[in-house]
Amino acid sequence: MTEILSGLTFEKDPNLLVGIETCDDAGVYRITDDIALIQTLDFFTPIVNDPYDFGRIAAANALSDVYAMGGRPLTAMNIVCFPIKDMDKAVLRSIIEGGLEIIHKAEAIMIGGHSVEDPELKYGLSVTGIVHPQKFLTNASARPGDLLVLTKPLGTGILATALKANKLDEKITIKITELMAALNKDAAEAMVEVGVNACTDITGFGLLGHSLEMAKASKVGLRIYTEKTPLIPEAKVFASMGMVPAGSFANQNFCRHSLDIDPSVDPILLDLISDAQTSGGLLISVPEKEASLLIQKLIERNTPSAHIIGEVLEEPIGVIQVR
Ligand code: CO
Ligand code: CO
Ligand code: CO
Repeated sequence: MTEILSGLTFEKDPNLLVGIETCDDAGVYRITDDIALIQTLDFFTPIVNDPYDFGRIAAANALSDVYAMGGRPLTAMNIVCFPIKDMDKAVLRSIIEGGLEIIHKAEAIMIGGHSVEDPELKYGLSVTGIVHPQKFLTNASARPGDLLVLTKPLGTGILATALKANKLDEKITIKITELMAALNKDAAEAMVEVGVNACTDITGFGLLGHSLEMAKASKVGLRIYTEKTPLIPEAKVFASMGMVPAGSFANQNFCRHSLDIDPSVDPILLDLISDAQTSGGLLISVPEKEASLLIQKLIERNTPSAHIIGEVLEEPIGVIQVR
């Protein structure tokens, strides 16, 4: 994307606090001294078979970028691409109903949307939220000495691939569905209460790719402890059997010049930290002295994970040490 946009002119505006140039989760625009808008959108093709669950997951995923910035979502609009000639309208109704459930949980409201006919079904949301213009979080303010906290276990990419190949049983299908449909709302509220330095959510680039974005934007180095990183146990089993989606290798390959991997690291764990997540957890960079309070608040709120998985280093800048 950076390549595609290079050389294009984007308007400058003193109220634009986070714009298109910084590879961050969403745009932030100041309206008053106390209120800034957060705007983001996300949509994709189904990753689970049940339309209602797909709606829930797509909505949680789209809302996540507001939470990653420490904001509060207010309104959402549907983005729909639907093969109206080949698919029952009830499917679309179910998807939107699932989305509504999650928007309701987020205490936001649905205010409209747009649909087009498309041979390939896609759904997502455009979300508007608010945040204090001096208090929003980005991936660009991690500080050396911070600890890194992850709020959902990894492995949904591997397991969604196994699901597509009809290799998942009902129990684990429900487990990953609930994990992907879980909002990052509680995690965001906990980190805002504690006061943290930086945050991003883990989605398509995997833990590795989003960590690298944070390291580059913050001009720091990061060290990730693979043994401490929370994983969905079944994802590790499938990865051990070689069921690793192409996206994981693409993520690893994309990061390869910025990685310092200890030879003792289990290659299976490397596959998992580069696994593309859908609606993954928050990666939070928290000052060391606040880390135990953050973990305590995450546990109180019952977030899917609450693990310290690494630390922020002064240097080498823009490098991820995998240990
Ligand atoms: Co994001
Ligand atoms: Co996004
Ligand atoms: Co329209």
